Amino acid sequence: MENKLRQLKDRSLQEICQADTLEALESIRVKYLGKKGELTAILKQMGSLSPEERPVMGQLANQVREALTEALESSRKALAEKALEKKLEDEREDVTLPGRPFTVGHTHPLTKVISEAKEIFIGMGFTIAEGPEVELADYNFTRLNTAAGHPARDRQDTFYFDDDDQVLLRTQTSPVQVRVMETQPLPIRIISPGRVYRKDEVDATHSPMFHQIEGLVVDEGITFGDLKGTLNELVWRLYGPETKTRFRPHHFPFTEPSCEVDIQCFECHGAGCRVCKGEGWIELLGAGMVHPKVLDGCGIDTEKYSGFAFGVGAERMAMFRFGISDLRLLFENDARFLEQF
Ligand code: DAH
Repeated sequence: MENKLRQLKDRSLQEICQADTLEALESIRVKYLGKKGELTAILKQMGSLSPEERPVMGQLANQVREALTEALESSRKALAEKALEKKLEDEREDVTLPGRPFTVGHTHPLTKVISEAKEIFIGMGFTIAEGPEVELADYNFTRLNTAAGHPARDRQDTFYFDDDDQVLLRTQTSPVQVRVMETQPLPIRIISPGRVYRKDEVDATHSPMFHQIEGLVVDEGITFGDLKGTLNELVWRLYGPETKTRFRPHHFPFTEPSCEVDIQCFECHGAGCRVCKGEGWIELLGAGMVHPKVLDGCGIDTEKYSGFAFGVGAERMAMFRFGISDLRLLFENDARFLEQF
């Protein structure tokens, strides 16, 4: 038995020395000191010893157990310490690593052209005016010489808030003209960018919400020549001085005479293509000399003053500016699209 105990001691201490994880250490403990362990098994045989041998062996067995327990404990401490050191080492921050780059957004193409247009007009002495998107039919239509019953006021086309068709989401930025003429002293030179709303189904060229930039100039001696000069300046600054414009007669209730302004197709330069539907020209805006009835309705002396006004579709402006063929791309906010501008 003495031999067995000594061998067990040597063997177990050697195993403990070699154990390199806490788990390995635990299984060594179980192997020798557990209920079914080897040392426990030897101790169970004590009964068969002579009364003289028993205390001697008992003492030896106790020494072996103590030695084993001690070795296990100090090895456990050493391994735990090593594990902690490794963890700290692994988690150490490398302050010399270069930082992770993060993406910076930029201005939406629509906002970009609106800002460009603002800059151009401010350079020509205009100021920026604002008006409400929830508007009175009176400002959106009536005072723009568009009386009740006019087809533009149809419920099919306009978002009304009430049954009497008095309050609506503005269908154009033109009501800002009336609000400005009512409140600002003459002469007037303003633009007013903003959202407008119409009951349109979404497709490549329509959206129930889009943007316009309204313009209004009222002063003594304003002529159609001023209108042409101002709008040509806008087009040339936006699209380059070689861009050709075409002023085409049209009708708007609040201007007389009225026109639409086309620019030569940016794609085919007038030859006719898919983008301009074979026309060679693309419509950019509506404009005209402010109707005397509109001026008069705002208390402006039409003998002394005249003016011109215009309304540009901002989405169209952006589409021509950046060669975008589908309006929906501007509203979907897909970063893969927006990153290109
Ligand atoms: N409000 C018009 C529209 O939405 C555009 C327009 C045309 C505005 C002529 C004007 C103008 O100020 O004089 O179609």
